[in-house]
Amino acid sequence: MDQQHKVIPLLLLLFQVLLVASQTDSQDYSGLNSLTESWSNKPQNWVGPDPCGSGWDGIRCSNSKITQLRLPGLNLAGQLSSAIQSLSELDTLDLSYNTGLTGTIPQEIGNLKKLKSLSLVGCGFSGPIPDSIGSLKQLTFLALNSNRFSGTIPRSLGNLSNIDWLDLAENQLEGTIPVSDDQGRPGLDLLLKAQHFHMGSNKLTGTIPEELFNSSMHLKHLLFDHNQLEGGIPVSLSTVSTLEVVRFDKNALTGGVPANLSKLGNLSEIYLSHNNLNGFLPDFTGMNSLTYVDLSDNDLNASNIPSWVTTLPGLTTVILGQNLLGGTLNLSGYSNSLQLINLEDNEITELDPQNNLPNFELRLANNPLCRESGASEKSYCKVPVPNPSFYSTPPNNCSPSSCGSDQVSSPNCNCAFPYSGLLISRALSFSNFSNVSYYRELEQSLMDTFRNQSIPVDSVSLSNPFRNTTSDNFELTLDVFPSQTDRFNTTGVLTIAFLLSNQIYKPPEFFSPYFFKGASYEYYGGEPKGSKSSSHVGVIVGAVVAVVVFVVLAFFAGRYALRQKTRARRSSELNPFANWEQNTNSGTAPQLKGARWFSFDDLRKYSTNFSETNTIGSGGYGKVYQGTLPSGELVAIKRAAKESMQGAVEFKTEIELLSRVHHKNLVGLVGFCFEKGEQMLVYEHIPNGTLMDSLSGKSGIWMDWIRRLKVALGAARGLAYLHELADPPIIHRDIKSSNILLDHHLNAKVADFGLSKLLVDSERGHVTTQVKGTMGYLDPEYYMTQQLTEKSDVYSYGVLMLELATARRPIEQGKYIVREVLRVMDTSKDLYNLHSILDPTIMKATRPKGLEKFVMLAMRCVKEYAAERPTMAEVVKEIESIIELVGLNPNSESATTSETYEEANAGNAQHPYREEDFSYSGIFPSTRVEPQ
Ligand SMILES: *[C@@H]1O[C@H](CO)[C@@H](O)[C@H](O)[C@H]1NC(C)=O
Ligand SMILES: *[C@@H]1O[C@H](CO)[C@@H](O)[C@H](O)[C@H]1NC(C)=O
Ligand SMILES: *[C@@H]1O[C@H](CO)[C@@H](O)[C@H](O)[C@H]1NC(C)=O
Ligand SMILES: *[C@@H]1O[C@H](CO)[C@@H](O)[C@H](O)[C@H]1NC(C)=O
Ligand SMILES: *[C@@H]1O[C@H](CO)[C@@H](O)[C@H](O)[C@H]1NC(C)=O
Ligand SMILES: *[C@@H]1O[C@H](CO)[C@@H](O)[C@H](O)[C@H]1NC(C)=O
Repeated sequence: MDQQHKVIPLLLLLFQVLLVASQTDSQDYSGLNSLTESWSNKPQNWVGPDPCGSGWDGIRCSNSKITQLRLPGLNLAGQLSSAIQSLSELDTLDLSYNTGLTGTIPQEIGNLKKLKSLSLVGCGFSGPIPDSIGSLKQLTFLALNSNRFSGTIPRSLGNLSNIDWLDLAENQLEGTIPVSDDQGRPGLDLLLKAQHFHMGSNKLTGTIPEELFNSSMHLKHLLFDHNQLEGGIPVSLSTVSTLEVVRFDKNALTGGVPANLSKLGNLSEIYLSHNNLNGFLPDFTGMNSLTYVDLSDNDLNASNIPSWVTTLPGLTTVILGQNLLGGTLNLSGYSNSLQLINLEDNEITELDPQNNLPNFELRLANNPLCRESGASEKSYCKVPVPNPSFYSTPPNNCSPSSCGSDQVSSPNCNCAFPYSGLLISRALSFSNFSNVSYYRELEQSLMDTFRNQSIPVDSVSLSNPFRNTTSDNFELTLDVFPSQTDRFNTTGVLTIAFLLSNQIYKPPEFFSPYFFKGASYEYYGGEPKGSKSSSHVGVIVGAVVAVVVFVVLAFFAGRYALRQKTRARRSSELNPFANWEQNTNSGTAPQLKGARWFSFDDLRKYSTNFSETNTIGSGGYGKVYQGTLPSGELVAIKRAAKESMQGAVEFKTEIELLSRVHHKNLVGLVGFCFEKGEQMLVYEHIPNGTLMDSLSGKSGIWMDWIRRLKVALGAARGLAYLHELADPPIIHRDIKSSNILLDHHLNAKVADFGLSKLLVDSERGHVTTQVKGTMGYLDPEYYMTQQLTEKSDVYSYGVLMLELATARRPIEQGKYIVREVLRVMDTSKDLYNLHSILDPTIMKATRPKGLEKFVMLAMRCVKEYAAERPTMAEVVKEIESIIELVGLNPNSESATTSETYEEANAGNAQHPYREEDFSYSGIFPSTRVEPQ
């Protein structure tokens, strides 16, 4: 039925061409391969052997070596294996926002000597930060925040002399802050180029070492908040004149606030709250960059509130509550920039001037002056009810659309699936959350960045601002809307996430330092997440029960069949089993379950002397004839050509195999002939020909979309049965449209197990054989490794699905259907932009519902790596769900849901038998086993 013999050498040539033409270094390719082998949710276009040449999403190359892996926000799941070290030229590795990436970071990461940027923000990694990271001398950007790392901060990080950004925040790191010692061991004090030490929200202990800071440093943002640090604030801090934000809040620091801090002329925000600091409130006079001061919840003293609190020119917020500050608060000449002074829970006795209330928010509750009679009426003595802000980006001169499920109306009132996440500021300069101009500025800066990077963004929306009281960070929901289309493709999401994970987006000063936590974006793929069978146990139990029932039935049926055959012998000229023994050295007669023996003369008679008019097919195997049994039953007789005859043992094995499988979506074996130098297989006759003939229009059967879905389901069920319920499991090896037959009701029946092989339970669960199959349908992994698994059938089945959607042959005019679909497919567009390639027939009536899901499933079936392909059982489930989506019951038998069926079929001859009347062999009661 095909041309395998010519095809194999051609295929070989094709693959050689592909390999020679590959632009990817083979070490990198195999490294990437084993690194990502077990990952799930990889980008759709990761197909083929050439990541560099075929532009895989998230991969950048230079001189055929992979230099960048940028994969943030893909919902990847798996582990980071030591195979990462094979990518020897890697300079950028970003796996941020993939919460499913877990496990430890391998020491081998230290072999990536070219690495400049390593970003693993917001994943699920745990265990220690490997020492070897310290040997990445080129590293400038290291972001490991928001994981579950434990252990200590490795000293070796002190060797990262080029580091600019060091973010270890929000982990479970413990131990002390390492500084270099007199034994020559490195420490963080050596990181003179660093601008960012972000180590908040860990479990660090010990003191903040004096040695950590000196005037050669360039730190801007120094964050050690939410740890268990003790001791005093090091005076040396005051020598780092570049500092802009210092956070030591929520620790156990003691001692006074060094007066020298006032030398920090560029310091804008200082957070020392929730410690045990004592001594006098420091004098910050002259710190003209200061905007935000929080020294609350300490034991600080003052005989009077110093004048800098009210008069420093840029100051907006001063929070000094829960201290021991006493005396008078002098408001005369207060700065216009002030928005809030909070002195609650102190010892203040007097306000001067008393009745001239300021135009900023002043809070003095729980001070002696508020205990005086009548004072409780004063506004500044009241404890204000928290006033959460409700900012949400307003519509841009339009009325918001009411959108379908999961879609959101953008500020420009278009319905779309936005890419979302939390934009988190580690500074709190947004003290006055109701100041709309801040939000507008933030929106504008985001839009500017996206436009500069040519990302097709329609608009951004900010909403739900709040202060996270666990981390004391300021959080905002960010929604980024696509332009022109309703969803981003993988490239779009990767680019946006990378801009944010790598701090390429620079927010306005008031929002820095920030970080972003991306949510997973599920709308480009349409891959149902967690599609793994939720009831594995049920399936297994069901399968076991089915197999047991089958075996019991088969046993009785076999006995019955034997008795019947003994009777039948009388009418046969020859004893088939004696004949078998005569012709073979195999000794025993075939162990048949239902298939019956035919003599050569009988079959010749049934097929009218193998006449040309009775020929219904031909191929490499030989010819197929239609035959009519004396009962009137139609059969298809497959007569092997001399060249393709197998040895007797093989033939016996094959008919044993074929007689063992019974499923309504598999063409049943009626019997066989092994006599007079002939090998023939007799199958049930399937009236409506092959799927290939239907798709090509040759058979005159109009295959509408729904019929195609049902055919896909039937073929999938048949295959799933072979893989999971046949005992032993069977790999078909030659799934293609000419091997899918259509019965009277257009139910699909998988035919031609001529190449099938039992799935021998070898150690590794696969079979190594000479490659067989049909060009265009052949699994490339099987081709290259010669290791056959069920997943090779899944690949061929995926090609078949594409054939159903496009009505194109897998290779047509030199174009390979898988590549063609990939080339035009754009998940952000209507019908995934596949209009040009889809079969116009299915577009005729109504929009083919569920087509996107169908194509997406097909693309998963043709994934490069077998491990990423679904099993046939999963495919069955997904097609069932697509059929339900279309509004039909996947378990209804008839395909006549389309009223046009009879019409389309009107010219065809009457079908001589109906499936209901047909029993598999007529010898024993049909024992059909259905997959669960
Ligand atoms: C730091 O680098 C120096 C010089 O390259 C090396 O000798 C030392 O072992 C490294 N220290 C650590 C802790 O990695
Ligand atoms: C700052 O510390 C580093 C490392 O401890 C040292 O090499 C450098 O000389 C120091 N600079 C000053 C000005 O003390
Ligand atoms: C802190 O300031 C005092 C007085 O101005 C000065 O003597 C001392 O050297 C300063 N310390 C540091 C570490 O700068
Ligand atoms: C302080 O900030 C100004 C303006 O951003 C900058 O020009 C200056 O270099 C900074 N000074 C230090 C010591 O970093
Ligand atoms: C608040 O911050 C903590 C610590 O970073 C985090 O675990 C939590 O999810 C945040 N809460 C919200 C509502 O974002
Ligand atoms: C993704 O979308 C962008 C812009 O819409 C487009 O330029 C690009 O070709 C698309 N990429 C893929 C792989 O479809």
